[in-house]
Amino acid sequence: MTVRSSFVVVANRLPVDEVTTSQGREWRRSPGGLVTALHPVLVEHRGTWVGWAGGTGDAPEPFELDGIRLHPVPLSAEELERYYEGSSNATIWPLYHDAVETPVFKRRWREAYRMVNQRFADAAAEVAAEGATVWVQDYQLQLVPAMLREQRPDLRIGFFLHIPFPPIELFMQMPVRAEILRGLLGADLVGFQQRLAAQNFVRLARHLLGLRYEGQVIDVDGRPVRAGAFPISIDVKEMEAMVATPEVQARAKQIREELGNPKTIILGVDRLDYTKGIELRLKAFRELLADRKLTVPEAVMVQVATPSRERVEHYQALRVKVEREVGRINGEFAKVGVPAVHYLHQSYSRSELAALYLAADVMMVTPLRDGMNLVAKEYVAARADTGGALVLSEFAGAATELRQSFLCNPHDPDGVKDALIRAVHVEPVEARRRMRIMQRHLRSHDVRQWAKSFLSTLGVPENE
Ligand code: ADP
Ligand code: F6P
Repeated sequence: MTVRSSFVVVANRLPVDEVTTSQGREWRRSPGGLVTALHPVLVEHRGTWVGWAGGTGDAPEPFELDGIRLHPVPLSAEELERYYEGSSNATIWPLYHDAVETPVFKRRWREAYRMVNQRFADAAAEVAAEGATVWVQDYQLQLVPAMLREQRPDLRIGFFLHIPFPPIELFMQMPVRAEILRGLLGADLVGFQQRLAAQNFVRLARHLLGLRYEGQVIDVDGRPVRAGAFPISIDVKEMEAMVATPEVQARAKQIREELGNPKTIILGVDRLDYTKGIELRLKAFRELLADRKLTVPEAVMVQVATPSRERVEHYQALRVKVEREVGRINGEFAKVGVPAVHYLHQSYSRSELAALYLAADVMMVTPLRDGMNLVAKEYVAARADTGGALVLSEFAGAATELRQSFLCNPHDPDGVKDALIRAVHVEPVEARRRMRIMQRHLRSHDVRQWAKSFLSTLGVPENE
């Protein structure tokens, strides 16, 4: 019998990983801000998380883990290709990121997107109790709010977009633009990372569907749909606690030693994604080495590039370009036993990442476009004591909040180089001052506060 919940989260992925232990295969909660933020609410409401468990074919039966009910949705191999790799990550992802790569439009992908969104909506309708709150996450599931409302008008529906929402002229490229917009308008509250994105959305509703709005409330046939900005954040306390452990502190020291105790460690940590500006960052480093404004071994760069969406063509092309650039830099500037760039195409544990943050003198976050960029916030939270400097693209959502970083325009190579050099040479007192201000901001704007603020705007009473 299906267990019904008064609070349901619907996201493309379930917040769990399947791991092999000596006892066999088992599920573990995956680390991640979203699940951390929603965990208390889910536990309190005997909540359910609807999502894909990874893999293809039959989905596992619903199960419970750490007080959350998990309701897996299956994807076939063909759906994985068309809905996830195709529509979500080769059409919508590039289009919503300012079309920094050309979006690919295919009819059969759209059909799969529709079918899979319907499956997620059906699953949510099945597990939601009468009058429940359902919170749908992100660009993979933009049709779900309307599909859900159609079946279950009794529900309170929220939607949050984790990535940017494009200006009207870009959104209009989408062949199924009205369907997507109507999908989102099925929600009572549509949340974005930035105020500008919420404005793009309400203006689009008027432009495309002739809907009227006042402030950020759109009138959809007499039903108010509110748009708003809710910049997501991280679990600040968790990061602060982690970097305070002797293990992470020791590991950070060890990393510096392993890198040859250079004067300056420059770090990048990203999914290997063309929106992240990894190439332009490497190029800035190469030019500074060529100009002799930086030298090896005094300065070295570590670039962690987490494997991501590896079957999508744009990502394959990016990997080739990044690896070629790393090879070029090392070819020209490395010394025997001392690479100029340490390139790591790997996934790491949270504590290893924390140690890297702690070891780095300068963190480079240079996306061409990013909804928020949590890595930037994690670095700031990790540097509770020691300074360190953040070079941050103006085109990351995080730039709205982290004003004391070294901001740069990633489209201007000289601007990026200048920001990097200023960050490398910042006085320690000034570095600490900047970090302190940003840390203060993050402590009062962490991921729990983000979830609270969205849910209270949606009208969910705090101890409902
Ligand atoms: P996106 O959501 O586009 O991947 P964000 O910067 O907002 O970008 O979030 C990335 C998250 O993934 C961060 O929490 C970061 O710590 C984590 N992460 C990035 N690279 C790795 C890695 N190599 N191993 C483990 N976690 C990683
Ligand atoms: O931030 C966008 C996002 O798609 C998240 O929803 C997701 O956690 C992350 O990027 C990684 O992407 P994927 O789920 O495609 O591996």
